[in-house]
Parts: sequence; structure tokens; C-alpha cells
Amino acid sequence: MQFRPAGPDDLALLRHWDTQPHVLASGVEDWEWEKELPLDPPWREQLIAELDGRPIGFLQIIDPYLEETHYWGDCEPNLRAIDIWIGEAGDLGRGHGTRMMNMALERCFADPAVTAVLIDPLAKNTRAHRFYMRIGFEFVEERWFDEDHCHVYRLSRERFESRS
Ligand SMILES: CC(C)(COP(=O)(O)OP(=O)(O)OC[C@H]1O[C@@H](n2cnc3c(N)ncnc32)[C@H](O)[C@@H]1OP(=O)(O)O)[C@@H](O)C(=O)NCCC(=O)NCCS
Repeated sequence: MQFRPAGPDDLALLRHWDTQPHVLASGVEDWEWEKELPLDPPWREQLIAELDGRPIGFLQIIDPYLEETHYWGDCEPNLRAIDIWIGEAGDLGRGHGTRMMNMALERCFADPAVTAVLIDPLAKNTRAHRFYMRIGFEFVEERWFDEDHCHVYRLSRERFESRS
């Protein structure tokens, strides 16, 4: 498994994944790929996960303190927030998501300033809650992001380091 930066050449792939029922059910909406893929702001990484050269999923890491729409509201510096999905239904439930998250967490905590990682699955996405809790995330609170009723989970550096 490897990450590479997502770019304009991934437009058709990401649009295709956006139409998959399991992706739609997780609350993924219009990510404005045409506008966003050519950009590379310092507070964001958009990554394609490839397995033996085959793209299988998307993962985004942001710094929620610096992210320009302030989606996460007022929050402390030195956090990261992650979005993740597997593209094709046939690739679900095979351990790829766990591998992607673990690689992403290594990437986040490689910066010694980072204190914790956040995620915000929909409240109804109970399978994703199980997935994150198995990885070591802890439930923080229920929260509304615009129209979306979400559960916020957090993995602290201390907990991340005590996992291994
Ligand atoms: C969540 C996700 C990235 C996990 O990746 P994965 O490769 O399927 O997961 P793994 O094989 O490593 O682990 C299996 C666990 O993933 C979760 N999972 C599997 N399919 C899922 C789905 N369609 N939706 C949500 N979670 C799912 C479950 O917790 C599953 O454990 P279970 O079989 O005991 O229920 C992936 O399932 C996915 O892309 N789901 C749809 C999008 C999504 O929900 N993203 C998270 C939004 S916050």
C-alpha cells in the first residue's frame, strides 16, 4: 500500500467513487474536485491509496486550525482531521482501510507538534464508529456540522504511542 498525492488526473476516478452507494451513505457530498484537485494548500493533503499500483481509496488530512473554511469551528492548533473512503465496494472489509488509517496516523504524528487526530463520521455510520474505535479512537461528542449529525472521535498522541 502506498499513498500518492491526488491531482487533476484523478477527477474521473474520484467522481466515479462519489457515486458508489457505500460512499454516498457515509455522507460524502460535493467535494468540488475540479476546483480543489489542482490546489495544494499548506493545511491539506489529498491522497490516493494504491495497492500494487491500483488506486483503492481516498484519504484527506487537514489541519483544522488553519483550514480556511473553519469547518471544525474554533479549535486548538496542532491537531489533524482525517476523511477516508474506499472506492469500490469489492474492496471493503479486507483490511485496506485499517492499513490506510494506520499509515495516515504515522504520517500525522511524524510531526512532533501534533497532539491528536480527529474524525467526524455521521452519527448513523455505526460501522465506521466500530472501525475507528478498533483503531484506538475515543468518542468525544455528538456534533452538528451544518445539516450533518456527526460523532466526533479523537486519538491522542499518548494513546497512539501506547498502541504499539
Ligand atoms: C470505513 C472504511 C474506510 C473502512 O475500510 P475497510 O477497508 O472497509 O475496513 P477494514 O477491512 O480495515 O475493517 C473492517 C471494518 O470497517 C468497517 N466497515 C466495513 N464496511 C463499511 C462500510 N460500508 N461503511 C462503514 N464502515 C465499514 C466496519 O467497522 C468493519 O468491521 P466489521 O466488519 O466488524 O463491521 C470503509 O469501510 C469505507 O470506505 N466505508 C465507506 C465510507 C465511510 O464510511 N468512510 C468513513 C466516513 S467518516
